[in-house]
Amino acid sequence: MPREFVAKRVAELKPSGIRKFFDIVATMDDVISLGIGEPDFTTPEPILEAGIEALRQGETHYTSNAGIYELREAIADLLEEKYQVRYDPASEVVVTVGVSEALYLALTAVINPGEEIIIPTPCFVSYQAEVLLAGGVPIEVPGTMENGFQPEPELIEAAITPRTKAIFIGFPNNPTGAVATRENLLAISRIAEKHDLLVISDEIYDNLVYGVEHVCFASLPGMKERTITLSGFSKSYAMTGWRVGFAAAPAGILQGLVRIHQYTVMSAPSVSQLAALAAIQVGADSAEEMRQKYDRRRKLIVSRLNEIGLDTVMPQGAFYAFPKIASSGLDDETFAQRLLEEEKVAVVPGSAFGSGGAGFVRCSYATKYEQIEQALDRIEKFMERHKK
Ligand SMILES: Cc1ncc(COP(=O)(O)O)c(C=O)c1O
Repeated sequence: MPREFVAKRVAELKPSGIRKFFDIVATMDDVISLGIGEPDFTTPEPILEAGIEALRQGETHYTSNAGIYELREAIADLLEEKYQVRYDPASEVVVTVGVSEALYLALTAVINPGEEIIIPTPCFVSYQAEVLLAGGVPIEVPGTMENGFQPEPELIEAAITPRTKAIFIGFPNNPTGAVATRENLLAISRIAEKHDLLVISDEIYDNLVYGVEHVCFASLPGMKERTITLSGFSKSYAMTGWRVGFAAAPAGILQGLVRIHQYTVMSAPSVSQLAALAAIQVGADSAEEMRQKYDRRRKLIVSRLNEIGLDTVMPQGAFYAFPKIASSGLDDETFAQRLLEEEKVAVVPGSAFGSGGAGFVRCSYATKYEQIEQALDRIEKFMERHKK
């Protein structure tokens, strides 16, 4: 037997259920994809222009490790304006390579081997994997369709052990579209206080809410001191390819993240940081226009899925619908596979998002309205054949 060079904790990671699907999609023609979790829009013009201009001005160098100061200031001001929580741009904000890096930094900075991180699921595919990579143990607390995929404070508290370090929440949620209520978040804040836990809150979809409020966890009484807030530019401003996000936390915690960041990536790309600054300064109208388009698509997809017989809760945030596929008599993996083969529509099996996801599929509506209409016609035909 040749020696195993790949570390055990890496070799044992399951491949992402999303990737597997897209490898198949890439080999097929005429597929309508409701699979990808990224805006179909190109980055709005004023932001693009700022990026191009930055390059022309010779902004092609490393920046300070924590990020361009003006951007950190703009991020801190924005968080204060929107959520009345104040971070010091000099010591409490780090600009990262997408929220993906911010997640990695947060978990690596806080987890000692064997510590447990409680994660309400279904959730973004990276959370559990990143906890494992950091040497921790992810403890999943599944939500249910019946309660709108809200995080459930009693179940979270019941999952606490002497090894629990943090609660990791991600709302507005990928894949369910749930937006956690203030009441549930307040209950979680009391649990965090009582058991002296950290809270890591991924708020990347904070701008994408439809008629409900997004509550920034750190803005709740006493919570700034025990919260790492993660957010970014990929979703609200259609900037996935620029790779820019941030983490904000009290200096004592944040400086731990910066220490890893400086040795691993040095600084986020300079041009992307300047484009992100422009997004905050001049991107709000474009972001709002995109949000309204998502809202229109959301209403279309949810009403048609329900008509077709795939029960779907009206999502209140992000850009995903999460239909229950029980009426097809298929499990979610088979449903997604057959739908792709028979009707060339790509969706993601819910079980890719952790416990509570089995029996559902994720349909992204970050796709053109007409494409969504066509995809729904195809799903309807599929269900005519498969409905039990
Ligand atoms: C909940 C959530 N967090 C984080 C990310 C990563 O975003 P990025 O690294 O592009 O900022 C995604 C992307 O799909 C996401 O859905």
